[in-house]
Amino acid sequence: MTPSTTLANRPSIAPLNTPLPGYQSIETFGSGAGHHRAICDDNLNVLTELHKTGEVFDFIFIDPPYNTGRSRDAYQNRFDSQQWQADLLERLRASQRVLSLSGAMALTIDSRSLSDALAVVEQFITRRSGWWYQLITMTTNPSGSAMKGFRRSHEFIICIHPASGGPQPTKLGDHWGHTSDKKVAGTVQWNRLLKSGIGHTAQSSPGCFYPIYIDRATGTVVGIGEPVSPDHYKKFNDPDKNIATCWPIRKDGTLGRWRVAAGTARQLLERGFVTTGRLVRGDEHKTAIKYLTSGIVDKIDRGEFQVTDYDEMTGAATVETDQDPSVLPTTVWTVPSHNYSVYGSWLLRKLVPQCAFSHPESIYAMEDLLRFYAANPDTRILDLYAGSGTIAHATMLLNSTDGGSRDTTSITLNEVAKQGHVPGNKSGVFHGVLVPRLTAASSGTTKAKKPVTGDYEFPLRGAMADGLAGSVEVLVPDDSASDHVSRRHH
Ligand SMILES: C[S@@+](CC[C@H](N)C(=O)[O-])C[C@H]1O[C@@H](n2cnc3c(N)ncnc32)[C@H](O)[C@@H]1O
Repeated sequence: MTPSTTLANRPSIAPLNTPLPGYQSIETFGSGAGHHRAICDDNLNVLTELHKTGEVFDFIFIDPPYNTGRSRDAYQNRFDSQQWQADLLERLRASQRVLSLSGAMALTIDSRSLSDALAVVEQFITRRSGWWYQLITMTTNPSGSAMKGFRRSHEFIICIHPASGGPQPTKLGDHWGHTSDKKVAGTVQWNRLLKSGIGHTAQSSPGCFYPIYIDRATGTVVGIGEPVSPDHYKKFNDPDKNIATCWPIRKDGTLGRWRVAAGTARQLLERGFVTTGRLVRGDEHKTAIKYLTSGIVDKIDRGEFQVTDYDEMTGAATVETDQDPSVLPTTVWTVPSHNYSVYGSWLLRKLVPQCAFSHPESIYAMEDLLRFYAANPDTRILDLYAGSGTIAHATMLLNSTDGGSRDTTSITLNEVAKQGHVPGNKSGVFHGVLVPRLTAASSGTTKAKKPVTGDYEFPLRGAMADGLAGSVEVLVPDDSASDHVSRRHH
């Protein structure tokens, strides 16, 4: 395959989105789908403001300093373990307030701080009904780094989900090395029945406001009720103690609606095409209801997808497809493009030559993570410890590849090696790495006006010099804002 030259390359002034109180925009560049905010501050301050303004994100990426104890890193990486845990827990709690009901968080960590991170995650989810997490082992350094004993070649991603969140199956590119004999059977994707986006209110479509009854013990959908006027809605109206009544209620408590009318839902249920997500034990009426869209049902009816089985307990159909297979991989990811040294550090230096940032993630690892958690083309993504901005860059690449318009908010301190956060310092992580990286990714040229060398790979797409679509806005604290929160920095 030859590289295409279709990726956009049009730096210009971007339209500003809603301003974030307490922050001023100091620079904008780039154009096209997707708005990317880079914010220089302690993430806890920003989370507070985002919550106040009612912003909600579908995916929150958390890549904190791993507390390696190293003092030569571009940012502080030695903390008291108790303090490190307390800071992380505080940020997880603040993140939850801006996470959508079906969203997810992913936290990366290495083996040195894994137990500390897991202790925090366990504590975080204990009092949150239905929350669950999974541990991914990702090979990030195939040759391994020397340490006592075996050479260490992997890191972990702790994927943290609310009851109805979880990864979406996706088409794994050939770079995952899933040859045909290793290919897992592709199964179709179940969508949430709760409508989001425009026209999501109960009032906008009264025929789609009806109860769905589920068995409290198994999660089986046992019946679909009649539509009722939202004015007559009563929350607790379970027909008997073993049955929970699920209404289309949104995270903020407002009355939403299901995506299909009650009659259609009944027909789908009869065919095993309505089921539940992970059962929320103790709060079963909050369990997400899932269904197969008409597009999938049409393909089943045309024989393009096959119903191969029905779940013994819930009656939900297993629908398989060998064309266009979307899959979830196992929890062990051994993918050459996830190498952080080649596709993190080296790639970063193509955009920001001579930059000495410690441990940027591989852009292709982040793009793969987004394929599982930001599949919808209008996903809103928050990167809490953005560092060099790999998530924003990967999102711009994904948007340019699939025509998406995902937005990102990347927060990072402007740390200077051995000095900590120094606002305004041009060589700090924010002003000297993240902003120049996004500028180069957008324009395709470095600060010295040289074209960025190399192609976007996995799969091979355009030349990096072609630039990427997306408007970028650079924000710093507006210290003249009188009501702004007091600042805490490391
Ligand atoms: C492990 S690095 C993240 C690397 C990033 N994922 C990448 O690919 O470039 C952690 C980053 O978080 C920043 N940081 C540490 N504490 C922070 C805080 N409280 N708020 C915002 N950024 C913070 C550090 O300066 C550092 O740049």
